[in-house]
Amino acid sequence: MLERLIEKLDALSQDFEQKAASVKTEQELQALRVEFLGKKGHLTQFFRHLAELPPEQKPLLGQKVNQLKNQFQKRIQEISDSLQNKAVSAAEIDVTLPGNRPFAGRLHPLMQVLDEIKEIFKGMGFTVEMGPEAETDYYNFEALNIPKDHPSRDLQDTFYLAHNQMLLRTHTSPVQIRTMESRKPPIRIIAPGRCFRNDTPDATHSPMFHQVEGLVVDEGVSFADLKGVLLSFMQKLFGKNTKIRFRPSFFPFTEPSAEYDVSCIMCGGKGCRVCKDTGWLEISGAGMVDPAVFGFVEYDAEKYTGYAFGMGVERIAMLKYQIGDIRMFYENNVRFLTQF
Ligand code: PHE
Repeated sequence: MLERLIEKLDALSQDFEQKAASVKTEQELQALRVEFLGKKGHLTQFFRHLAELPPEQKPLLGQKVNQLKNQFQKRIQEISDSLQNKAVSAAEIDVTLPGNRPFAGRLHPLMQVLDEIKEIFKGMGFTVEMGPEAETDYYNFEALNIPKDHPSRDLQDTFYLAHNQMLLRTHTSPVQIRTMESRKPPIRIIAPGRCFRNDTPDATHSPMFHQVEGLVVDEGVSFADLKGVLLSFMQKLFGKNTKIRFRPSFFPFTEPSAEYDVSCIMCGGKGCRVCKDTGWLEISGAGMVDPAVFGFVEYDAEKYTGYAFGMGVERIAMLKYQIGDIRMFYENNVRFLTQF
């Protein structure tokens, strides 16, 4: 009698495990629970058999039945947990919901404009040169024909590095000198980079800003070449109807010198708020390389001529994108930056 019952219990255990393995829903799990552990369930019936057994056999079977009961309960709990987990993760990964786009970085608008400027000049045969941001007085001023007592130094007051007599360059023009010192003509370069001036920040001034320098030196280079290159550049940047004009000006390192303007990109030259009704927008300075500068780099001024020009990257970006305040470039406001 006892052996038969124990065999039956083993068979029951196997039957339970088999059925448990195929449970896929909460309902199926409930049915399994009723079938094995319910009031009229398989296991409950065994407790009835207990009564029929001789007293010395009761504990053994009782123990077996209890073990099985615990085993079933534990297994049912496990299945229940895993069904719940599946339900939760199924709800979390709803493939029909729109995804969360990760925030992608991008180039700063100034760097985008700078890239565009570089591409246009590369297309005209220019190469890109770099120079240091901390310069010596010689490269930033002296060799550009700006001696110590020259009044034009006042316009470019900068930050001096007291410990090594250097300074933060006030313009990219020192790269002209560095390039000419290191090679012979023909030279056809642009030099983009950061510049610094001791200016109080306002809507149009920043103590740190960017320029692109241009320098061409060869035999027979004329002011007409300068005009042609700048016109072609501005038309590629602002559109083919863009015009440029030159106004006489002064820079110690160019002679003759000029400041150049582009026709207003907003009104096309008719006059509007952006160009203050003049029809023109100021860009920067340019001119023919002063023979005195050739003296500093030991170029033969009788043989070679050259032109140089500068341009402010912020100025161009502000015109291109209609940005009213230069400080917006440096504030790192994401709502501003993500517009470009
Ligand atoms: N370096 C001048 C400036 O910063 C601009 C310039 C460059 C003028 C080259 C003439 C030639 O104002």
